[in-house]
Amino acid sequence: MKIFHISAECYPMAKVGGLADVVGALPKYQKNAGHEVRVVVPCYDTKFKNENTFETVYSGNVVLGNFTFPYNVLKEATDKLGYELYLIEIKELFDRSNVYGYEDDIERFLSFQIATLDWILASNIIPDVINCHDHHTGLIPFMLQYSYKYEVLSNVRTVITIHNGLYQGWFSHDKMNYIPEFDVRHAGFLEWDNSLNSLAVAVKCAHAVTTVSPSYLDEINVSANGLESLFNKVRSKSKGILNGIDIELWNPLTDQMLEEHYAIENFDFGKHKNKQKLCERFDLDPSKPLFSFIGRLFDEKGGDLLPQASALSLSENFENINILILGSGNPDIESQLGQLKEEYRGNYNVFIGYNEELAHLIYAGSDFILMPSRVEPCGLNQMYALRYGTVPIVRRTGGLRDTVIDFGDNGNGICHDQASVGDVCYSVNRAVKLYDDKDHFKEIIKRGMATDHSWERVCQEYIETYNQIIEKNES
Ligand code: GLC
Repeated sequence: MKIFHISAECYPMAKVGGLADVVGALPKYQKNAGHEVRVVVPCYDTKFKNENTFETVYSGNVVLGNFTFPYNVLKEATDKLGYELYLIEIKELFDRSNVYGYEDDIERFLSFQIATLDWILASNIIPDVINCHDHHTGLIPFMLQYSYKYEVLSNVRTVITIHNGLYQGWFSHDKMNYIPEFDVRHAGFLEWDNSLNSLAVAVKCAHAVTTVSPSYLDEINVSANGLESLFNKVRSKSKGILNGIDIELWNPLTDQMLEEHYAIENFDFGKHKNKQKLCERFDLDPSKPLFSFIGRLFDEKGGDLLPQASALSLSENFENINILILGSGNPDIESQLGQLKEEYRGNYNVFIGYNEELAHLIYAGSDFILMPSRVEPCGLNQMYALRYGTVPIVRRTGGLRDTVIDFGDNGNGICHDQASVGDVCYSVNRAVKLYDDKDHFKEIIKRGMATDHSWERVCQEYIETYNQIIEKNES
């Protein structure tokens, strides 16, 4: 099967969050399963782009209303990623260091989508399936079906995978002319709530909708930033497929970002060495349990709960625990977290920013990972943590509900129901008790390390979904 994944992020080319990890891993496993897989992302000014070799395979002009942007399609030259990676180079729009957050994001991602389809059209490759990811690629299912110039591709099946339904890519009617000429009778597909909404377009027009966990699919049918009634309508073509993780990249026995390796048989010793390194680097106490948070510091991830929950947990368990935070996001949260440093020196630290190598060391060297998310479509950190013998402390929501079971129910982690400071502190206290009950703690860790979250199993679910929509088309 010829599969294209089109996305704003793909690790290691460009990563902001978990979307990159998924788009950087799933294609590899699909390729291993015998499919012809290509990944297309915009060409940002990233370290990966600058340090690797690419060949130009196509050049053209993308027309966006009255604007014309020249572009190149670059192919990663060595195929070392396990799938073919293509970059859409539109210098004026993407030659910047950030992935998102610009005033012209609509123009940027629309140009990316149009350039991608123009190139596919010119290349004479007819994909069986185009798997779009999140709203940045949401116009593709519409354009393929209704823009005249893509008529040859109108039979291509499309899937929209929703990694985060809160962000929807709204834009105003005056930008409708950016979309290559289409049959106006279908203009209604573009609209939602008096505006144009990229995610809604994809949900309406794609042949299948997938979410990154089954529980998240249930949740967006109830609450989805205004799209819940739409999700109800498309329930029959929707499926929740739990993400996997790249178990080659995330393996504590071979992880190239770690100096100290370990496996389930000897995790105790290996984890301790990593913990020592981490504690030395951040001036923490390795003889005390270490609670860490890795991620974006936003309310959605429960980032706003962290300053107070950390202060309360540290003062209640004075000098008996450590807390370490790695992330960036809301400046208020960042500054509140920074202010705690002085008071809890020796037991608390925060690193504002993102650092992939440090993230690996934190998974390896921590005892617990905190994930107090309000919304978590899947969450990968809890799966990385489990694999590295670090016990996840999660709020029961979305994919966290599907992957972490409380140790009181013979599970692999610690769960609470509310996104509140009280619930987080309560879980931290339970964790401190569990940590002191050494044998029980080890048993929970081992259970987590033994869980199989590899893509190998999950990747088949995507293929089944693709097959279903292809068969439907043929019958
Ligand atoms: C988004 C979601 C996260 C999910 C990831 C990968 O970042 O917020 O929950 O794990 O996408 O699908």
